[in-house]
Amino acid sequence: MCTSSSTPWRHLRACGPFVGALAIWIAAISAVGHGAQDAPRTIWGGVFTEAQAKRGGELYKTHCGYCHRDNLTGGGSEAGAPALAGPIFVHRWRDLPVADLFVTIGTTMPQDKPDTLDPQTVVDIVSFLLASNRAPTGSAELPPSVDALKAVTMTVQPAR
Ligand code: HEC
Repeated sequence: MCTSSSTPWRHLRACGPFVGALAIWIAAISAVGHGAQDAPRTIWGGVFTEAQAKRGGELYKTHCGYCHRDNLTGGGSEAGAPALAGPIFVHRWRDLPVADLFVTIGTTMPQDKPDTLDPQTVVDIVSFLLASNRAPTGSAELPPSVDALKAVTMTVQPAR
């Protein structure tokens, strides 16, 4: 089973093809009335704290801003770093679990030295990216755990 893997980055890759089936199981388990903790969650429910997003913003400037720009508009590298805020970014990650963004960044970024950041740094940066795409803050931090992040989905902003 994929849960036996110890490094967070390999973990999701090994589990990749089974994510769909897992999501169905999670949905099925929630449907039979497990506790609120097992209920499907989205980034619109306040899944990171203000302090975490602030921390992530500083880390972003150090590790990402020189390519993706401090204002997240992208374009600051020869290869053309994409914007990390706005409609294209939201569409790219639409309806995917936060775990996908977390693992993609952890394994492929910073592009000039991939796989060098620790999971806590990456999850803090992820919270900053979510905040920059208007997701609200909440009372608990986003944890650096692939399993926990699989349970949080990046849906588009709900209509008010
Ligand atoms: C040396 C320049 C550079 C740095 C530093 C860098 N990136 Fe990138 N990034 C790129 C380029 C170029 C691409 C587009 C090609 C690719 O996906 O590899 C990209 C793509 C991405 C993507 C989209 C990946 C996808 O699958 O759609 C994300 C998200 C991202 N970067 C986040 C980050 C974060 C967060 C950091 C800081 C931890 C970071 N990047 C640091 C250059 C960089």
